[in-house]
This record gives sequence, C-alpha cells and structure tokens, in this order.
Amino acid sequence: MMSLLCITIISLTLAGSAYSGVMTPPPFQISAKVFADLGANVTLPCTLLSKNSMSFGHIGIRVKWTKVADDEALNEDVLMSMGFHKKTYGSFENRVFLQESDDEDASLVMTDVSMEDTGKYHCEIINGMEDTVQEIFLEVQGGLTDGVVFPYFPASGRYNMNFETAMQTCVSLDAVVASYDQLYEAWKDGLDWCNAGWLSDGTVQYPITKPREPCGGSNNGPGLRNYGPRDKDTALYDVFCYTSALKGHFYWLVQPERLTFDEAVQACLDDDAEIAKVGHMYSAWKLEGYDRCDAGWLADGSVRYPISRPRKNCSPTEAAVRLVGFPDKSQKSYGVYCYKTQQ
Ligand SMILES: *[C@@H]1O[C@H](CO)[C@@H](O)[C@H](O)[C@H]1NC(C)=O
Repeated sequence: MMSLLCITIISLTLAGSAYSGVMTPPPFQISAKVFADLGANVTLPCTLLSKNSMSFGHIGIRVKWTKVADDEALNEDVLMSMGFHKKTYGSFENRVFLQESDDEDASLVMTDVSMEDTGKYHCEIINGMEDTVQEIFLEVQGGLTDGVVFPYFPASGRYNMNFETAMQTCVSLDAVVASYDQLYEAWKDGLDWCNAGWLSDGTVQYPITKPREPCGGSNNGPGLRNYGPRDKDTALYDVFCYTSALKGHFYWLVQPERLTFDEAVQACLDDDAEIAKVGHMYSAWKLEGYDRCDAGWLADGSVRYPISRPRKNCSPTEAAVRLVGFPDKSQKSYGVYCYKTQQ
C-alpha cells in the first residue's frame, strides 16, 4: 500500500532567478510538500512538464533525483535514470524506484521511509532542450508511540543486577526502568526476549511472542512470563529500560579511523557532542527508523549497530539493535555514535 497522505502544491513558479547562467534557458520549477508516516512508502511527484517534448521513456531523456542539503557539497544522489538504465545510491539503494505510471511520470517511490529521509529533493529532467527542476519537500512523521522499551545487561554479564543497580543502570543509559504497562505495550508491538528483567514495580518478567521450550514452555501461549516480586537486594536479573523520543540528534560520526573507546569518547567531544548512550540508539532506531550497518562504541563501553531495514549481513531476519559485545576498550576496531543535545 502506498501511503501518500497529502500533497500540497505550495507554489508554481518560473524560477529563472535561481538559475542565472546566462546561456541556459530558465528551468521550470515546481515546489510540493509531501507527508509520510515513519516506515510507510511514499511517492514524490515529478512529471515531464511540456507535453510536446519527447516522452519520458525516450532514450535521450535523463532523470536525476537528488537529496539537496543546505551545503551543496553534501547533496546526495538518490536515483539516476537514462532510458532503461537505472541506478540508485547510498542509503536509497534498492529502496527507491521510478513510478512510471505513464510516459510523463518521473515520480519517485520511496519505501520504508525513516526520519532521516526528511528533507528537500530535486527531480531534474534533462533532455538537452529544456531542463526542468522540480523541488519536493518530504516530511516524515513519527509513529504514535512516544517511547521504546529495551532489555539490558551490563558489561559484568547476564543476571548481575539487583533492583537498585538496575535503576541506576537505566538512568545511566538515558532511560528509566520500564513499567509493566510499558513492557506490555512493547510485547504487543512484537518484543520477544528470553531473559528475565526487573520492572519498576519490583517484579521480574519477560515478553514472549513466539512461545518455545526454553522460554517458559511451549504449552503457554504468547504473553509476559512473570516471576512475580523478587527480593530487591539479593535477587540478580537483567532489566527492561524505557526511554522516550530524542530531544537531540543521534548520529554516526564520519571519520577516517577506527578508534579505541577513549578515542571514541574524545572524537565526539571534538565534534561538540558526547558519545551516545544505549537509550539514544534505541530511541533513534525505534522512533526515527535510524539504520546504519556500522558497529560503533557507546558510552557504556558496548559496541552496537541499529538496523531498521534488515538485509544480508546486517541483521537479515529482523529489525533490531544488534549487540557486538563489550570489547576490550583498547581495541581499535570500531567507529562511534555521538549525541548532540539541541541548542
Ligand atoms: C512498500 O512497497 C514495497 C515494494 O513495492 C512493498 O513490498 C511493501 O509491502 C510496501 N510497504 C508498505 C508499508 O506499504
């Protein structure tokens, strides 16, 4: 199902002034704004404007879709089409295609949109005679949920935290211990986790959507497996943490080297940011569709990567935040994710 919620044509202008090359004729420029829900498919409209020119399928016509940044040097290629030849680029690879509902249709279909796809796009139609640029703003809107529940165990290993330590640990990840209701919502949303963790009411539970023998038996249906209240001082378990939508910006730090943990911390500081916490990664992944197949250090000394578009070699079977582990901090094998609070 295509989800094209709303198109507003906000202006239709002959934007000659924006392209002041003396010899080239002024291109037509159309602006439109398109809204899409996180994870949906969306169509960015673009048509061949002048009816009497050669049709779009014609060999001489090129269509170029670009994601336009404020700084032109950071523009990203999205898709290039020349006749039957099509190529997609970067994070758009295998995720975008031309709609081609008729000879004049150069609209771009984008599947599985993430918050990162928000921005300005140009559709350039180049036929050697009259080149046109159509500008489309895409705004991706977050899901209805305003938070995410995630299971956690620390570097010291599984089943190692009493209730007090569990509470402090969630806070250190920019999260809090999840409530029963929050875990229940996460279970309804598909969370399946076969290790028991503390909840804020002092009970220990875990969510199972695919019942199986080692996870509370296969005779029981899907649901929350409940160990009931446990001794808060002496009982040792993992924890379920809850974190809400990001107030700042979570990102992969583009830099040439692989880093030790200390270098990773410093690299984020040098970028006027801090090394990201586990809660930041879960929030960006779940609520913003963040996807990156690069293992990076996080503040707790773990190395993880967030996959919202499962693919070969990158969490092929499910969308997940993948844990590589808690490597030796002097190991120079990973990149880093940073977090910048909003100014
Ligand atoms: C989006 O489009 C792809 C490919 O056409 C399709 O397989 C998928 O089911 C669509 N997803 C949604 C949410 O409509």
